[in-house]
Amino acid sequence: MYPLFFRLFFRRMDPEAAHRLAVGWIRLVAGVPVLRTFVAAYLAPRFKELRTEALGLRMHGPVGLAAGFDKNAVAIDGLAMLGFDHVEIGTVTAQGQPGNPPRRLFRLVADRALINRMGFNNDGSAAVAARLAARRAVFRTTVGVNIGKTKTVPEAEAAADYVTSTERLAAHADYLVVNVSSPNTPGLRNLQATDALRPLLTAVRAAADRAVPDRRVPLLVKIAPDLADEDVDAVADLAVDLGLDGIIATNTTVSRDGLRSPQALTAETGGLSGAPLKERSLEVLRRLYARVGDRITLVGVGGVEDAEDAWQRILAGATLVQGYSAFIYRGPLWMRSVHKGLAARLAASPYATLADAVGAESRKVPA
Ligand SMILES: Cc1cc2nc3c(=O)[nH]c(=O)nc-3n(C[C@H](O)[C@H](O)[C@H](O)COP(=O)(O)O)c2cc1C
Repeated sequence: MYPLFFRLFFRRMDPEAAHRLAVGWIRLVAGVPVLRTFVAAYLAPRFKELRTEALGLRMHGPVGLAAGFDKNAVAIDGLAMLGFDHVEIGTVTAQGQPGNPPRRLFRLVADRALINRMGFNNDGSAAVAARLAARRAVFRTTVGVNIGKTKTVPEAEAAADYVTSTERLAAHADYLVVNVSSPNTPGLRNLQATDALRPLLTAVRAAADRAVPDRRVPLLVKIAPDLADEDVDAVADLAVDLGLDGIIATNTTVSRDGLRSPQALTAETGGLSGAPLKERSLEVLRRLYARVGDRITLVGVGGVEDAEDAWQRILAGATLVQGYSAFIYRGPLWMRSVHKGLAARLAASPYATLADAVGAESRKVPA
């Protein structure tokens, strides 16, 4: 039914307007107690066997919503109601900013993909921190907070900008993500070079420890699929060296290879997400797992469209999996089908628990 609805309704609308409308509905339904209980019972059935422990946190399952959908932390309960096992809010920057001028979000329907150049439009770390502090959680869910650099802050002062966000937000974060991989903030991805990344992550770690002395807030870094393989290895080694808790692989890509959509669309600048990203994201994940094994929690994201994709990420080494574009294309029943499919795959597999399946493909002895 959603595909029909998408074709008749959302597809004809400007993608950003559709996004605002969807968020409005999600918030509306989650605001009515009887309704949200009913909806959550149907859309977010809990499977005991999918319970996941990661980053020192207990979660209902391994699959969450990737950053960028709820940049300002306005719909966390509504998203938990739809079944997401964790919700990563943000990217939040130290100062609020409008992002790039519209239009800045494009649907490539023939490719089951999106291109966005939103440019970190968000209310800023002070406003988002206040919102998170005031939140009275209705549904228990894990909340990740993804932080990035304010556009007007020069690259040389990036660390101080991330530190400001950390000081304001760490106390409200189940885990914290340093995003250095969006293609839409000029120069941001240069921070992935280990010379820049080491002092940045060290400063953020120290700021989180100062801001939240009674709890070690897990710290992750989110990387781009466009890194060269050697650079993926370098980030992996750095993460181990710094005692980082996790790596999120991957953000959107600037590549436009193999697309079928009209050239007018594929020529739009920005980050490409969805199905065309699947192969490279999985490849980066495999590479990371080969390098770090289970010393660091890996989060697989990029082109995860269904339960099979989520299962493949887990077998490749991801303890957690995220999606964004598939949620846009598949709608509110998406997580329900992912959970059911994952539970079925686990039951049919030789693994007793989901944790046993993590990285299992690399342990397979060739016949
Ligand atoms: C419209 C849009 C906005 C996004 N904004 C952010 C963001 O603010 N921060 C971030 O780390 N990733 C952002 N992303 C990237 C997603 O979190 C995710 O890494 C990427 O879309 C790949 O996953 P997918 O193929 O399931 O969409 C955004 C993606 C989209 C489509």
